[in-house]
Amino acid sequence: MNEMKTKNLSFVILGGTGDLAKKKLIPSLFKLYRSDELGQFDVIGTSRKALSDSEYIRRVGTNINDQEGWDDFRRNIHFAKLNFYDSGDYRGLKEEMLGCSDNRLFYLATLPQHFDVITDNLAKHELVNERSKVLYEKPFGDDLSSAQELNDSIGDLFPENKIYRIDHYLDKELVGNLSIIRFSNSIVEPLLSSDFVDHVQIIASEDFGVEERGEFYDNYGAVKDFFQSHLLQLLSLVGMDSPDQLDARCIRDEKVKVLRNVKIQNTRLGQYRGYKEETGVAGDSETETLVAVEAEINNSRWDDVPFYLISGKNLVKKYAQIYIQFDQSGHETMVGEDGTVPNTFVTSIQPDRGIYFTINTKVPGRIETEPAKMEFCHACHHGPNTPSAYENLLVQAISGDQRSFVRYDEIEEQWKIVDGMDTPDPFIYEPGKVPGEISDFISGSDWHGLED
Ligand code: BG6
Repeated sequence: MNEMKTKNLSFVILGGTGDLAKKKLIPSLFKLYRSDELGQFDVIGTSRKALSDSEYIRRVGTNINDQEGWDDFRRNIHFAKLNFYDSGDYRGLKEEMLGCSDNRLFYLATLPQHFDVITDNLAKHELVNERSKVLYEKPFGDDLSSAQELNDSIGDLFPENKIYRIDHYLDKELVGNLSIIRFSNSIVEPLLSSDFVDHVQIIASEDFGVEERGEFYDNYGAVKDFFQSHLLQLLSLVGMDSPDQLDARCIRDEKVKVLRNVKIQNTRLGQYRGYKEETGVAGDSETETLVAVEAEINNSRWDDVPFYLISGKNLVKKYAQIYIQFDQSGHETMVGEDGTVPNTFVTSIQPDRGIYFTINTKVPGRIETEPAKMEFCHACHHGPNTPSAYENLLVQAISGDQRSFVRYDEIEEQWKIVDGMDTPDPFIYEPGKVPGEISDFISGSDWHGLED
């Protein structure tokens, strides 16, 4: 992390009063500052409505609980009014940035429909220089053709090494760890194929609704907000073959091969009761807040292995996990009446972080088996203060490492999958409960941990 410490930085947030700036970007920058990772920096927040610096700081500081160091940090935060469609405002931003470092990061924390006009204006007003990078929040487009159009217009203005397409799941510690665990352990990698795996579950469950993002969410829904990006990225990381190197190009080359071979077998959609009454949501909305998908990866490694993916709001608890269940040993009734359990390999992404295997072991004094966990607990080993996804993401963008950002051909494949999906009418489910409509989704098994 220390590589970037000596660099100066100007960090510009387009969409600077939004949820993301308040909840993730400012707190992450503050944490990096407190751990002495930032060096000299300026943060310039923008929004359509004119604000003074101090009004802006008050708004974006609402999620800073431990205030130690905040008074010093906030002196580096400034505000510039910016209507994305007003040339004069970009000139104002340019003036505001005189005297700031020319190592510039523009973070587009806005709705994707504004991405091309913002990019165009950043280029036209020569705000993006040799050392700048432009970061695009997800979703990148809202279907294949809009993503393609957007990518073409951005690509006409900036070279690929300036373009950072975000999927913050890739910056979660245990997601980053997945490739390391797979490819640096000869006891893991050979097991991950149809020779041994019965099925895979990729689960991202949340115990809250759309909160203040109703208007955005209602235009996208769980498929475009979550499945298209986070779940398909996780699927590609589990499914990919070993890259030649663990660098940005090789990892993305392998991931895209997986995405090209994904076939959706079954889709169910749900909407939590009360969603239509959320602020910003249409009273007759048919937008899904839950998506469950059965998919296959049509290649020799994964032939006939079902991948079950789910993301839902207002379920029982917030957690994300990759659960891999292996075939039974063939000797499951050899020992004891209860038989053995299938082995599993679980990557727990959040809130608990770690990996574990379950194996069958002998019960002391009896010739019977019971399951035991072989576990790597991330917090026990590294302590509780590992960086958040957004801290990792900012560090990597600042240091120019594109490994955990998404290349356009991956996004293209992700949209092809989504555009080709069935969209059944969503069933209504009760907040805080697992819907009955998905309880029989996995043949011969349950969603791991969803009911607890
Ligand atoms: C965002 C989605 O990308 O990820 C949100 O737009 C979702 O709907 C969020 O709540 C979940 O992120 P995390 O890191 O809290 O699991």
